[in-house]
Amino acid sequence: MKILMVCLGNICRSPMAEGIMRDLIRKNNLNWEVDSCGTGSWHIGEAPDKRAQRTAQSFGVDITSLRARQFSIADFNEFDRIYVMDTSNHQNVLKMAPDEQSRQKVDLLLNSCMPGENCEVADPWFDESLFIPVYKQIEQACQKIIESNR
Ligand code: 4NP
Repeated sequence: MKILMVCLGNICRSPMAEGIMRDLIRKNNLNWEVDSCGTGSWHIGEAPDKRAQRTAQSFGVDITSLRARQFSIADFNEFDRIYVMDTSNHQNVLKMAPDEQSRQKVDLLLNSCMPGENCEVADPWFDESLFIPVYKQIEQACQKIIESNR
């Protein structure tokens, strides 16, 4: 299984999601791959936001070596599941989907633990107090993805 985590900047939410999923994959001895990217181009090549790095570190997950990249149409072929953090990411990714098979790979991450509710992972960029709750929310969703695909 190849999983792609997508947010806007690829420096806060999706790198935390990649780090969490990478950690769970290792702990569960799964032969899965995970990557992350952003729909926007502003932060290409940058390391995750320091606040995201510190949050992940506080839960024992190292995301310092990740570097931001932008979502590309080739990702529809490369990945089996594409998890987006919010409805804006969702719309932007769906807009680029070349066919129905590609569209079906895409879902809001939180639908993994709250099916059909279309809840968003809030953007912590402007509100630092959101980093820890967002991290925990992402962790729950990742755990659920692992449980339902074993
Ligand atoms: P992310 O957060 O999408 O979770 O990486 C953001 C990071 C940067 C910006 C917006 C959201 N920005 O506007 O630069």
